[in-house]
Amino acid sequence: MGEKVLEHIQPSEGAVVLDMTFGCGGHSELILKSDPTVKVLALDRDPASHSLAQSLAYKYPDRLVPLHGKFSDLPNLIEPLGYGKGSIDAMLFDCGCSDLQMMDISRGFSHEVDGPLDMRMDGKASDEGLTAYELLYSANEIDLKNIFKVYGMLSAGKKIARALLYLRHTHGEVRTTSDLVAVLDASCDLASHEVRSTFRALRYFVNDELNELSHGILLSEWYLKTGGRLLTISEDQVEDTIIKNHFTGTPSSNFAGLPMRFASFTAPIDGEFVKKTCWSKINKHVLIPEGDRLLSRSRKLRAVVKM
Ligand SMILES: C[S@@+](CC[C@H](N)C(=O)[O-])C[C@H]1O[C@@H](n2cnc3c(N)ncnc32)[C@H](O)[C@@H]1O
Repeated sequence: MGEKVLEHIQPSEGAVVLDMTFGCGGHSELILKSDPTVKVLALDRDPASHSLAQSLAYKYPDRLVPLHGKFSDLPNLIEPLGYGKGSIDAMLFDCGCSDLQMMDISRGFSHEVDGPLDMRMDGKASDEGLTAYELLYSANEIDLKNIFKVYGMLSAGKKIARALLYLRHTHGEVRTTSDLVAVLDASCDLASHEVRSTFRALRYFVNDELNELSHGILLSEWYLKTGGRLLTISEDQVEDTIIKNHFTGTPSSNFAGLPMRFASFTAPIDGEFVKKTCWSKINKHVLIPEGDRLLSRSRKLRAVVKM
């Protein structure tokens, strides 16, 4: 998988590469090792990943610049460093959770281990936003159904929402990942991939991940040089549809107006809206990366050049 990333990013001498999803730093380090003249700006919203990037920066002085924040914080983080419109050679989005996040049971990202239903990528110290537990206890049935149907693409969205509401009304507890799995098992008869999608839908909502992704792709258009490369690895069909729609000039989201929470990601916004795309595909076909992480089941790699 790392080879595919390098093959598509092709960092040239002196290139500045922006890794929008540093995670555990696998891709960033691979890029740094590929050429001693390349510089990597490494962004992540997770404080644990940011600490890791700060440690790695000692190994690559002046070549690895750790940045802490969300995709939407990017302008505030890089403009003061002198990076403006058209200043970046390549950008990389590897969507989803890092192994660091999945393996820390106190974060509540995995349905396979027991932990509190937190799911905030910004870390537990973040006082912004709801935890998944708070979401399950405050959202109404329609909102919950929409989260599962739209974000999780789950036909059983209504059934899941009903089961959770019923539990709430009967004073049942869904505090932990195991509690949630138990409700899904007892009341919804879901296949294991649907349980995974249920967790992912909650995580998308808690972190506003789909708006962030859409915003991030628009920022790539702004910050990449002409001829600059953008590589994306999506985690599922929902993310891939958002990315694909941007690349074909039919973005289905509107991050600048109302939040696109609950919007349909399969239809272009405003029905007929088609933008002249600035992206040219590198591969004719989407690549399906071979599994190298815990959550690798339906990932897709797309690579484009900014024209
Ligand atoms: C799949 S991991 C990346 C793994 C990384 N490529 C590696 O080699 O280890 C995705 C990372 O993106 C971060 N992330 C997700 N959404 C983000 C956002 N909107 N802004 C900044 N970081 C984000 C997550 O915190 C997570 O660490």
